[in-house]
Amino acid sequence: MKKIAIACDHGGYEMKMAIIAHLEERGFEYCDFGCSSTASVDYPDYALPASLAVARGECDCGILICGTGIGMSLCANKVKGIRAACCSDTFSARMTRMHNDANVLCFGARVCGLGLATDMVDLFLDTPFEGARHNARIEKVMNIEKL
Ligand code: RB5
Repeated sequence: MKKIAIACDHGGYEMKMAIIAHLEERGFEYCDFGCSSTASVDYPDYALPASLAVARGECDCGILICGTGIGMSLCANKVKGIRAACCSDTFSARMTRMHNDANVLCFGARVCGLGLATDMVDLFLDTPFEGARHNARIEKVMNIEKL
């Protein structure tokens, strides 16, 4: 069973708690990197420890939630080893696993309702990477500075 790093800022706090309840229902192990209320915080402070946990292999993948998902994804993608996808539809949440081998899903609590967010989480967690022709592309993504 996958271990999931999860974090949010104030904009994503309530959504994160609902997603955690869903993860618990599904029996996933998770590590909650905050924040812990709707009081205003800075999303990089929460994106970083969760992303590092994934990059270091302490967690298998991550879920990051802010108002738009964008701030979280900007931060996560600056951590070496992270492939974060900011999604607001189920097709993208599935395809980013199949083609991009994304290891962090980001979304915005002010963009997506809980039903859509839950479906995206399930697709992200349940869809395998296709490999094959995508392996070489992921290799390039992870070494983009050498191209
Ligand atoms: C916080 O107001 C908001 O800027 C943040 O949650 C996020 O949307 C940033 O990308």
